Amino acid sequence: MCGIVGYIGHRQAYPVVIKGLKRLEYRGYDSAGVALLNHGLKVYKKKGKVADLEDSVVGLDLGGQVGIGHTRWATHGEPSDRNAHPHYSASGQLAMIHNGIIENYAQIKEELQHKGYTFKSDTDTEVLLNFIEEIRNNNECSLEEALRIALRRIVGAYCILLVDAADPDTILAARKGSPLVIGIGKGEHFLASDASPIIEYTKEVVYVNDYQIAIVRADELILKNLGNEKQTPFITRLDMELAAIEKGGYEHFMLKEIHEQPQTIFDCLRGRLLPESGMITMGGVENHLESLIHAPRIIIVACGTSWHAGLVAEYLIEELCRIPVEVEYASEFRYRNPIIHPGDVIIAISQSGETADTLVALENAKEKGAFIFGVVNAVGSSIARLSHAGAYTHSGPEIGVASTKAFTGQLAVLTMMALKMARAKGTVSDERYRTLLHELHAVPEKVAAILKDTASIKAIAEKYKDASDFLFLGRGYNFPVALEGALKLKEISYIHAEGYPAAEMKHGPIALVDEKLPVVFVATRDRFYEKIVSNVQEIKARKGRIICIASEGDSTIPSMADDVIFVPDADELVGPMLSVVPLQLLSYYAGLAKGYDVDKPRNLAKSVTVE
Ligand code: F6R
Repeated sequence: MCGIVGYIGHRQAYPVVIKGLKRLEYRGYDSAGVALLNHGLKVYKKKGKVADLEDSVVGLDLGGQVGIGHTRWATHGEPSDRNAHPHYSASGQLAMIHNGIIENYAQIKEELQHKGYTFKSDTDTEVLLNFIEEIRNNNECSLEEALRIALRRIVGAYCILLVDAADPDTILAARKGSPLVIGIGKGEHFLASDASPIIEYTKEVVYVNDYQIAIVRADELILKNLGNEKQTPFITRLDMELAAIEKGGYEHFMLKEIHEQPQTIFDCLRGRLLPESGMITMGGVENHLESLIHAPRIIIVACGTSWHAGLVAEYLIEELCRIPVEVEYASEFRYRNPIIHPGDVIIAISQSGETADTLVALENAKEKGAFIFGVVNAVGSSIARLSHAGAYTHSGPEIGVASTKAFTGQLAVLTMMALKMARAKGTVSDERYRTLLHELHAVPEKVAAILKDTASIKAIAEKYKDASDFLFLGRGYNFPVALEGALKLKEISYIHAEGYPAAEMKHGPIALVDEKLPVVFVATRDRFYEKIVSNVQEIKARKGRIICIASEGDSTIPSMADDVIFVPDADELVGPMLSVVPLQLLSYYAGLAKGYDVDKPRNLAKSVTVE
């Protein structure tokens, strides 16, 4: 949510900041803006995408070697020029950008209004900025001190960058709950919400921690806590290549990321899954094996697509390890004072590692003594750092707003984890264990086979693109896949879609079925095959339009369906990694056929750092 970029050094700041904003646009794209320190403080901002901002500043003097920029996902105030960041302070001397939400902004705003302040925007950011300026004026202190005092008063989450016309050699930054990375160059520093704007300039970065303030100059980086004590910056080397964040010849990031899956799943399994020797090596699991296998209960906490991966994990862990599992929406879990017993294990699943709901749910659970295991994609992210142990999915940067390769990476990690735990617990037979290792090993190749010919999926998407509603149905391991298919279609093509366990239809939703309703069955050959054949019959009898994901070689399901997409045969425990791929493509091509921006669907943003 909201992308933040800053630059200070010997280059022209504007091109660096704009390029960085384009890399971060997936985090929010309803307006964008920059502030440059160029013989005074100048702010340029515009409703719309970064390209609209660029168009609006053509011909202007955009010089200056210090700049901050922002791409917004609106929280307080509609998307508009005046609500776009950066905001000027009342005096016009300061400018600030902010990612997060200041929860007590209304109260602070009222205090400021009593003192005569007026506001040009509806944002909480402008309130915080004027609050900082008011403290500086009142206390006659430095801006840094005023910032510290203000941050101690506010409630909520923030990553802010602040510049002062009177001190053109400094950017002040601070974070709590919203990410901030600082890249260290030679005589220059780069600031950003994630490493993607930084990677082409330097691989040395510092991840700023919660409650830290960074005082950033061209050749100096000082970190302090809110008590004004200096803290040593911990420099990390980025393990990421520029190619990973570029489209590499694909029309969209989403398509690229779908097609990367054979490689990303392979990368996730590489070095961990050793089918010939019958081993799975996962340091995070091995070091805590006893806590994991003797857990009285496992609670999985996640949101959205990651929550769907959690549902698959519930099936896997209960079946293989015989440990009760609950799968919780992080946003609900965090607010209902959940009961956590000693020994309970929490598995947090998150692509970004920054999702605010998940993060806060984990912080609460950690305070209650739970052991947290993170299944995270973004290395060094807040959830990864908060977890006691974990396993990265190694899917590489996911830039398309819809999660695709991260989902299959999560499934790969969770399957290995369940198998390793089951082996240690003795709840899986030798033969089944070995079969599943080989099944898992074969997944990348099978995904590659699905991706070889996608023309029929494109044709189906075009055929049904004007439907107003869709149903997605599955049973067993394919039920979470149905939910994921519905979510993907909603977010990319804006077609209303719902996912259900196929057997639930007769308890209500079947009333929706008529000759206009496309119903997608995830109906691969598994233990529910006969049952789902009956469910398909029930829809057919009511004239629904049937689209099936079926196993290669099956002839029964195809004989009943209007359209079929085949996937290679696989054990049902690894099946979701295959059957979800055509559904990702279905939504991609439906969105494309409708002329939508599939990488940046309306109202959405990647990395949901507000609750
Ligand atoms: C859907 C999607 C979201 C995320 C959710 C959690 O395509 O991307 O539903 O899965 O916002 O995000 P992470 O996994 O980053 O915690």
